[in-house]
Amino acid sequence: MKPDNRIRSWEITSEANFVSRRRFIRDAGLAVGAALTGATALALPGRASASLRDLETVPGPFSTDETPNSWEDVTTYNNFYEFGTGKEDPYRNAQEFVTEPWTVKVGGECDKPGKYDYADIVGPHALEDRVYRHRCVEAWSMVVPWVGFPLGDLLKRFEPNSKAKYVRFKTLFDPDRMPGQRRAVLRWPYVEGLTMAEAMHPLTLMVVGVYGKELPNQNGAPLRLVIPWKYGFKGIKSIVEIEFTSRQPKNSWALATPREYGFYANVNPEVDHPRWSQARERRIGASVFAEKQPTLMFNGYAEQVASLYAGLDLRKNY
Ligand code: MTE
Repeated sequence: MKPDNRIRSWEITSEANFVSRRRFIRDAGLAVGAALTGATALALPGRASASLRDLETVPGPFSTDETPNSWEDVTTYNNFYEFGTGKEDPYRNAQEFVTEPWTVKVGGECDKPGKYDYADIVGPHALEDRVYRHRCVEAWSMVVPWVGFPLGDLLKRFEPNSKAKYVRFKTLFDPDRMPGQRRAVLRWPYVEGLTMAEAMHPLTLMVVGVYGKELPNQNGAPLRLVIPWKYGFKGIKSIVEIEFTSRQPKNSWALATPREYGFYANVNPEVDHPRWSQARERRIGASVFAEKQPTLMFNGYAEQVASLYAGLDLRKNY
């Protein structure tokens, strides 16, 4: 399957439109899901979109007016190395991944450490629809209608103390359930980190769903981060651990190739990756003849987040 050849089943131009057309989207999503699995259902066991629960949501702030990518783009063109390094591997290999029960261990510099069930983590929060630009460091992008709640609202509940300067997140480590972890493509488990200011920023989401449905496994079920002004690799999937730290955590990609990937990973068209330009990006789903589009500073969220980095040299702190 080529990413340039995607089915476009809906056109959504605004948040209000998105919300009012929710039922249509769900129906279309099911239809596309059915069309998609129609071709592959025999080969691919497990959960089609129809088996994913609908979520109760409210409209959230900061949504872009750009047209979201299709359900098919969002759920079959993925990076999730725990299920393979090909773009369609997560979709193919994550279907059987069981995410219930799910527990998150919270610790480090905070007054309310502990083990929290999925329901304890998500329960108290209103789930918001937020359509965000999603820019991968590999110079492709999508627009994704995530469902989630501000990460800061969750972190506050654990009462971080004055020594908490950063937050570190870990993905599940279980090579039986995540076959990609049997190969040393990265040091497992996947680890990511944010400064407290980044983690508490209202744009930063703890994501539990997409297109009004609970997250498909390949997108990081049951809990993943989305930090829309950063390259996609900061958006760690299938989180089982949150730790408040006084020192900057070492994130997986910076450990693997420090010259290419840093801690900050803010989208920046002016700072190239050592092996390719970051000035432009390919929108997944666009026609093969479409030109690449310019990448925006902080992925278009500069107004909201540029002040977090005042005085920081963004060439050094990539
Ligand atoms: N999280 C884990 N645990 N493992 C991964 O391989 N890939 C990252 C990020 N989170 C990754 C991960 C990368 S490189 C990107 S671009 C995004 O997830 C992709 O998210 P998506 O598949 O939902 O688009």
